[in-house]
Amino acid sequence: MALDWSKLSFNYTKTNTIICSHFKDGEWSSLESSTSDQITINALSGALHYGLEAFEGLKAYRGADGKVRLFRPEENARRLRRSGAYIGLEAPSDTMFIEACCRVVKENIEYLPPYESGATMYIRPFIIGVGGQIGVHLSGESMFIVAAMPIGSYFGKGFEPSRAVLASEHDRAAPMGTGSYKLGGNYAGTVLAGEIAKRQGYSTVLYPDSAERRYVDEFSSANFFGIKGDTYITPESPSILPSITNKSLLELAPTLGLKTERRELLIEELSGFDEMGAVGTAVVISPIGRVDVKPGWEREGGCEAEIIKSYFAGESLAAGAVSLKLYNALTGIQNGTEKDIFNWCLTI
Ligand SMILES: Cc1ncc(COP(=O)(O)O)c(C=O)c1O
Repeated sequence: MALDWSKLSFNYTKTNTIICSHFKDGEWSSLESSTSDQITINALSGALHYGLEAFEGLKAYRGADGKVRLFRPEENARRLRRSGAYIGLEAPSDTMFIEACCRVVKENIEYLPPYESGATMYIRPFIIGVGGQIGVHLSGESMFIVAAMPIGSYFGKGFEPSRAVLASEHDRAAPMGTGSYKLGGNYAGTVLAGEIAKRQGYSTVLYPDSAERRYVDEFSSANFFGIKGDTYITPESPSILPSITNKSLLELAPTLGLKTERRELLIEELSGFDEMGAVGTAVVISPIGRVDVKPGWEREGGCEAEIIKSYFAGESLAAGAVSLKLYNALTGIQNGTEKDIFNWCLTI
């Protein structure tokens, strides 16, 4: 196997094994490795018809000291249970979840990119309702699967600022809907818009709140943060995913002399930020230099839609110093070059 780590993007690569378990008659089967990435399920599975699917995303990091670390995996285990509970799907315990993640990393260790290669290993645990059903009801039978693969930069830009566009004619999630749960269904409605946005030169879509369209919610696959002076500001909203990376930055920022605010954030406030960025496991901290408001961009031929306003972050062309400081502190803990003061990492 010869992989050029520097050429990796955020794409799927088949690796040696996936780890699977089946939940039936109230019990999980023992975790098993499969060298195939194909599974056989009932064609009438609830996952295929009614979106009975919840997932997670975390990474394994090869440290400067050669050790392999997972970042706060128990947080992912808890969030998967919370997501599963919302759609009535059984999810594994912390112990079972972490065991499966450690095992998938070990069985695919040659796919774990080296320290400072610019790539990491992404771990994708998920649960699916697999009982055959035709009515819209709970699935009594489910599968828990974990896959792992090497990945590169999410926006393909590394730490260079990219542009985002504000969603104008579609919503991601409703205030009393599923936005705060990591359910596959939340992403289905963002796929095409994301593709259209990319064709127009944007790395991602920023979603306003869907009730009033006055506040910033989050990006399609990451939380939003802005830096104003020495304050890290991130939106509070019932329809955004509680990001583990963002939660960690809120704890880390004060140790770097920054203040933090988590509150409703008016779209108009975007004009006052020195720095902006996307934060999450996949994107890590990705600077966003500019957010465009462009009504109707999602429509067929939307590239002709006119930009009616742009919000620029400070210099907009270069990553900001505070974002860089946060990035170095966070990745330093994940790579073992900074002291893990919060005891976040699990060494495999
Ligand atoms: C919609 C959305 N928001 C935020 C995040 C970031 O969450 P985390 O930091 O837990 O990866 C993700 C996933 O990575 C996401 O899909």
